[in-house]
Amino acid sequence: MKRILSGITPSGDGTLHIGNYLGAVKQFIDMAQSHECFLFVADLHALTTIQNKETLKKNTETLILQELALLGDLKNITFFRQSDVPVHTECQSIINNVTPLGLIKRAHAYKDKLQKDVMEDDINMGLFSYPVLMAADILLYKPDFVPVGKDQKQHVEIARDIAEKFNKTYKVNTCKLPDPMISDDTAVIVGTDGQRKMSKSIGNIISIFEPVEVIRKQVNGCYTDPTRIHATDVGHIEGNTVFSYLEFFGEKGRVDELKTLYVLGHVSDTEVKEYLFECIMETFKEARVRYEEMKNNPKLVQDILEQGAARAASISQSTLEEMRKAIGITNAYSFFTYPRPSSSKVTIEDFAKIEMKVGRVEKAEHVEKSEKLIRLTVNFGDGIRTIFTGVRQHGYTADDFSGKQFFFVHNLEPRKMMGEESQGMIMAADAVDGKPLFIPADAFPLGSTIR
Ligand code: ADP
Ligand code: TRP
Repeated sequence: MKRILSGITPSGDGTLHIGNYLGAVKQFIDMAQSHECFLFVADLHALTTIQNKETLKKNTETLILQELALLGDLKNITFFRQSDVPVHTECQSIINNVTPLGLIKRAHAYKDKLQKDVMEDDINMGLFSYPVLMAADILLYKPDFVPVGKDQKQHVEIARDIAEKFNKTYKVNTCKLPDPMISDDTAVIVGTDGQRKMSKSIGNIISIFEPVEVIRKQVNGCYTDPTRIHATDVGHIEGNTVFSYLEFFGEKGRVDELKTLYVLGHVSDTEVKEYLFECIMETFKEARVRYEEMKNNPKLVQDILEQGAARAASISQSTLEEMRKAIGITNAYSFFTYPRPSSSKVTIEDFAKIEMKVGRVEKAEHVEKSEKLIRLTVNFGDGIRTIFTGVRQHGYTADDFSGKQFFFVHNLEPRKMMGEESQGMIMAADAVDGKPLFIPADAFPLGSTIR
């Protein structure tokens, strides 16, 4: 499965409108059918413009809730918050050093600001190095494609240049060169004014999660056909926003029928708008319910973000480790490695920490007051330990262990069992019926270590 990654900055107020849905979220949902997707809320990027704690909190919370409500099923999607995966900023620090100043000076976000008569002193470093953090976001996950709006294409190209420079400088292949995936122009949804792109800052929107009355008002305010004074006048479909939205939300048969009636002057604007309103409410019915559910249950959202961050960390940390090795930060005295939270894989170094030894059971006895436990007194050659095994319910008795050698984990943190410490663990393999099968070690020298 090809991997895609994208970020959304909570720089607006975090609320989403049908333009965001049709132009971005829906495409992401469609792509998640056949791609491994990483989608994150770029809250660190929002710091470039939002420097008010309450605003940032609120925008981020809203965006998280609304995105999650729209996505619904997160199959194939890892959803997380940028600041929950701190390696993004560490990566930014590293790739800063292979990023030519000129490349960043040519970036639109910075150049546009300068041209708007903003003094350099009023531009913060966060805004200036915005493309470098974005490159870090991308390169850490080695995606095949980065779906973004046109305005972000240059940033993905900058990420590509940085990737190439890193690989060349350190003679490695660590950075995968990302490709932007730009949706075509037809995906731009016109606003309810019928003039400009639907945008929150203009206010020509139809919301998704606002109260019903607000959405009804927005639908009623849609630009239709100014030449039509009465419902019996001939109507025009071209440029009529109600019909353009119905293309997406309406049922085709009914929409075609309404179009015919409209052109003939047999249906009123009010009726068509009513149908659009019903369709929009129907499309987002489940999302609106999910939104309320999550809003009232922060733990649910926390869990999703925690799982997302763990999965994101397991991928990004391993790229960062490659980078750390490539640049020489990791050396003979390095002890630091990133924990791998959600990955079931362990490194050879991790595995080597487990000490397994051959021991002989000198004595085995059933633990009184327990239906499961057998107490083993195990000789490892250099010392005797007490180790419990809870397998009597599988038909094992003390006699099955007495006088025989087995493999044991020797450096486990001791654990209390019926008030006594178990100082290790006996190894077993699973049989088909779930019964543990103990691996005989009589052929091996007592106390020898397995590696
Ligand atoms: P807004 O202009 O309302 O503030 P943003 O610029 O925050 O929206 O855009 C968020 C995402 O939604 C981007 O991926 C953008 O391409 C998409 N988007 C925004 N407005 C529209 C629109 N009118 N038509 C299609 N996609 C849009
Ligand atoms: N800058 C992007 C925007 O404003 C959001 C973003 C941040 C992003 N990091 C990213 C998008 C990485 C794609 C990949 O829309």
